[in-house]
Amino acid sequence: MEMARTLSDIFKGFSKLTRRERLNALAETGVLETRDIDFLEKGGLKDTTLGEKFIENVIGYFQVPLGVATNFRIDGKDYAIPMAVEETSIVAAASKTAKWIRDSGEITTEVVGAEIIGQIQCAHVADYIAFEKVLLSQKSYLIEISNREVAFGLVRRGGGVTDISVRRVPRGDGTDMAVVHVMMNPCDAMGANIINQVCEYLKEPIEQFTGEKVTMCILSNLVDTKITRSVVVLNDIEPELAQKIEEASLFAQQDPYRAATNNKGVLNGIDPILIATGNDWRAVEAGIHAYAARDGQYRSITKWKRDGTKLVGVFEAPLIVGTVGGVTTLHPTAAMCMKMLGVESANELSRIIASVGLVQNLGALKALTTVGIIEGHMKLHIKNLTLGAGAEEREIPIVQKKLEEILAIRKRISLSNAIDVLKELRASQQQSQ
Ligand code: MEV
Repeated sequence: MEMARTLSDIFKGFSKLTRRERLNALAETGVLETRDIDFLEKGGLKDTTLGEKFIENVIGYFQVPLGVATNFRIDGKDYAIPMAVEETSIVAAASKTAKWIRDSGEITTEVVGAEIIGQIQCAHVADYIAFEKVLLSQKSYLIEISNREVAFGLVRRGGGVTDISVRRVPRGDGTDMAVVHVMMNPCDAMGANIINQVCEYLKEPIEQFTGEKVTMCILSNLVDTKITRSVVVLNDIEPELAQKIEEASLFAQQDPYRAATNNKGVLNGIDPILIATGNDWRAVEAGIHAYAARDGQYRSITKWKRDGTKLVGVFEAPLIVGTVGGVTTLHPTAAMCMKMLGVESANELSRIIASVGLVQNLGALKALTTVGIIEGHMKLHIKNLTLGAGAEEREIPIVQKKLEEILAIRKRISLSNAIDVLKELRASQQQSQ
């Protein structure tokens, strides 16, 4: 009997396949089913009824390419990683860098902490010390009623509200505001709705106990209580390359101007998976940026260091996602992408996303410190330029080849180059007719 092919089997030469062949190969491994292929072949979601349920004033859908990042082996498990993104080279770079790591290293991950944070603000407290004292004396009761009246579903699944604390936040005019933090384990949900409900529910008892006025309730995206870590180890790396990557990493640690671009590159790997799986990428972005600035200076959320003959990279940041509820389950493309990933928990999804971000960062740093961004990026961009110039099927390979030559010589290439090359080609063909 013939054995079913695995993801690592089908990923050999995956990019050279036609779209239909890719879909069939994914189906062979079991990550896609025939109905998923039909759904994608028909162009995905079309009927706007679902869109109307999500937002207001719907006029259609905005289509973004959906690709598969290959070669990722994370904690010893192979994944087919869906990425919804328009930027050329992101999927290719992630897949290529993941192959390098799979061949000469490993990716390991962990999630430290389980709780997300809800905030209840009392903008003006007459007596902060008294407020804190009363609130903490009622802590167990407030936790108990939150779990009994609001978060009971989470409690059944092993989560719920676990702690309540108070912070004194200076108003900047010599007085303070009081900010109550509600800690909640959301299990496999992202938890935004439920933590907001808990905080709003607690408003009244807090006002009654303390005699102070609650001014607003909302979750915090700076979830420094639940951190996702991904570690890449590359063995026997060329010392010169390792040093260059370490230098690039130091640059992003120390200089906020570079850190912003470095982190954008990390998010190149993160956002496309968040989008493909229907997760709230704005929330994750906000959390990552805030965490990157936690010591008062905006820094890189990744670090690369040599360790003997190895290069070790670490991503560490809050990365709160859900695998149940919301768009993740309701949007058929997101649901299909979730199935393709085959994750068993929100933490597993978070660990994958962190790893793709870190690997994307490594790919970018390697390109930037060796061949440069133009060669890595623009070679792939040539295809778009060729199409943008209006080349027809038979003209495409000739125009691409010529543009590659121009790129090699001038280290720069633009749409006007493509248009000129196409014009010349057509003129020379007319002459020879
Ligand atoms: C471009 O989308 C991302 C990079 O700028 C990231 C980086 O500079 O590290 C290449």
